[in-house]
Amino acid sequence: MNPVEKSQIGKIDPAKLPVHVAIIMDGNGRWAKKRDLPRTDGHEAGVSAVKRVVKVSAQIGIKILTLYTFSIENWKRPREEVTSIMRLLTRTTRHEIDELNRNNVRLITTGQIEGLSFTRRQVLQSAMEKTKNNNGLLLNLALNYGGRTEIIDAVRAIAKGVKSGHIKPNEIDEKLFANYLYTAGLPDPDLLIRTSGEKRLSNFLLWQTSYTELYITDVLWPDFDEDDLIKAIVNYQMRERRFGKV
Ligand code: IPE
Ligand code: IPE
Ligand code: MG
Repeated sequence: MNPVEKSQIGKIDPAKLPVHVAIIMDGNGRWAKKRDLPRTDGHEAGVSAVKRVVKVSAQIGIKILTLYTFSIENWKRPREEVTSIMRLLTRTTRHEIDELNRNNVRLITTGQIEGLSFTRRQVLQSAMEKTKNNNGLLLNLALNYGGRTEIIDAVRAIAKGVKSGHIKPNEIDEKLFANYLYTAGLPDPDLLIRTSGEKRLSNFLLWQTSYTELYITDVLWPDFDEDDLIKAIVNYQMRERRFGKV
């Protein structure tokens, strides 16, 4: 991996860093197709991009990086592709624990982790356990994640609370609601990057992105590198966030 040149990182204003960056890592299949390779090879190449981006995010001082890794809808892909993505996830998680620790990265997940197989859950849980004392970058993998399902799950939990008398209907506000989402405790993303040019959210962080700055690049995820991340952050820093005000 090439170390990022200081001059590149120097383009970023450290006083205006996005605290939380979220990425829809898209285009692995198209990257492979362009090379006449199986889609699986695209996912393999995508893992290298993940490693680059995690490392440089930690180096820049980003606090939270949420990566859309597998959506609930992705189960609808051919079984072989799903299996190979899941295998890749387990293998990479196992292999990268030392590197995460070297970079002071703590791993967490967002999504219906109970929907993954026992072994995969164990590997993830062990990696979370082994990195839990790191206080640099928080790497949040959105896994078996769907924004609408997340909202429904929150509504169900709140409804139960109301039924049992723990929650009064008039206590339900944005803050309480956010505490019932999978992302409870995390600030909303400041910057959302989507690679490969698609201009949609694909059911990602629907509640949390209401005031997030969007950055779409044509670069396919396996080609996304340190400079592309820096470019996105510099672009974000030129924007004026108004949150409905003047
Ligand atoms: C993103 O790349 C990886 C996952 C959704 C798991 P894709 O596999 O969606 O790549 P394209 O969109 O087919 O190019
Ligand atoms: C979104 O990408 C999901 C992930 C990146 C994990 P998709 O490739 O699944 O999204 P669509 O199908 O183009 O909307
Ligand atoms: Mg895609």
